[in-house]
Amino acid sequence: MVSHKIGYLGFGSYTPSRVLTNADLEKVVDTSDDWIQRRTGVRTRRIMGQDETVLGMALKAAERALKDASVLPGEILDIRVAVNTWMRFPSLATQVQKELGIESCSASDVSAGCAGFVYAVEDAHNKILAERALYGRELTSLIVGVDGLSLVTNWKDRNTCVLLGDGAGAVVMGVSKSSEILSIHTEADGKYGHLLYSDDVLGQQGKSSDPFEFSPSETTARPYLHMDGKKIFPVAVRTMTRNIKEVLRKHNNMHPNKKIDLPEIDYVYPHQANVRIIRAVADALEIPIEKVYTEGIAKYGNTSAASIPIGYDETRARTEDRLIVDVAFGAGFASGAILRRA
Ligand code: UT7
Repeated sequence: MVSHKIGYLGFGSYTPSRVLTNADLEKVVDTSDDWIQRRTGVRTRRIMGQDETVLGMALKAAERALKDASVLPGEILDIRVAVNTWMRFPSLATQVQKELGIESCSASDVSAGCAGFVYAVEDAHNKILAERALYGRELTSLIVGVDGLSLVTNWKDRNTCVLLGDGAGAVVMGVSKSSEILSIHTEADGKYGHLLYSDDVLGQQGKSSDPFEFSPSETTARPYLHMDGKKIFPVAVRTMTRNIKEVLRKHNNMHPNKKIDLPEIDYVYPHQANVRIIRAVADALEIPIEKVYTEGIAKYGNTSAASIPIGYDETRARTEDRLIVDVAFGAGFASGAILRRA
């Protein structure tokens, strides 16, 4: 029987080899290994070296995912790259396409803060469904989550520099015999934009009315990341908790005879921003912490759009043929969750 399930066919990740420890950061800002571990759970993070780039990380993760899925680049008809640190055009997705030697396919970037990967999966899934329904064509998609947060880190700001790291993860998605996306939920709340943002390098906020006058401010030459972590923390916990409930509710509304309840979920991949946030979400939903991916924050810090797909690659043995929830939250207070069978 021909399968109509759409799911993950393979995944891969890449993190730079250069390791930045808490002891390294003690030499740069007024902090301590003890504070960082206690308040955040971070022990080390990976930082791009001279010869590494956001494109290079995205490409390596993509190549590994394609190999894992036994899919050739030429079979990919859609590329979605979730990224917050490319900040230029043409899009990163088109450059991944070029480097993979794909002659022609659809390609675009997705900007949704640390929730970008969930949004990218949603976009790719919707496109696969639309192409099937409208044109009778089955697509295979490549989805990458990548960020080089070290590029926007202010190494003098102890509130943020201890948290961030670089990395990439990728999945190949298409018609699958076993794995299946069951439901996806995304939402955003832009009124919190001022709590987590990067500098406005083009000076759009204070733009003159003359469209030909361009004077970027010297102080915003690098778009540093700014974060009011204390205010974000409780919203992150509430929002991720709500997203998990919502993605289950959506599925159960559509499939009243195949309802899935929280205790049936085998494993959760939360975005890795702070181990205390992850624990608080697990506590709120009474999910045993053994069922939750937490190791990413200790090893890699917050890698933004890359944190969930890096987790897939790190823990693949734990999740085969399991019911999984992915959940993310970040800037713009964009957030989302995926319910899937791995
Ligand atoms: O990626 C998705 C979006 N981001 C998040 O979800 C992050 C959410 N927020 C957090 O993870 C946490 O709020 C932080 C890790 C950012 C901060 O932890 P906290 O426990 O909320 O610390 P705090 O901001 O309340 O600061 C407590 C104290 C302050 O000192 P005073 O004012 O009490 O004297 C800070 O100045 O800790 C101080 N502090 C530090 N001390 C040593 C802040 N950063 C550091 C540091 N080392 N790196």
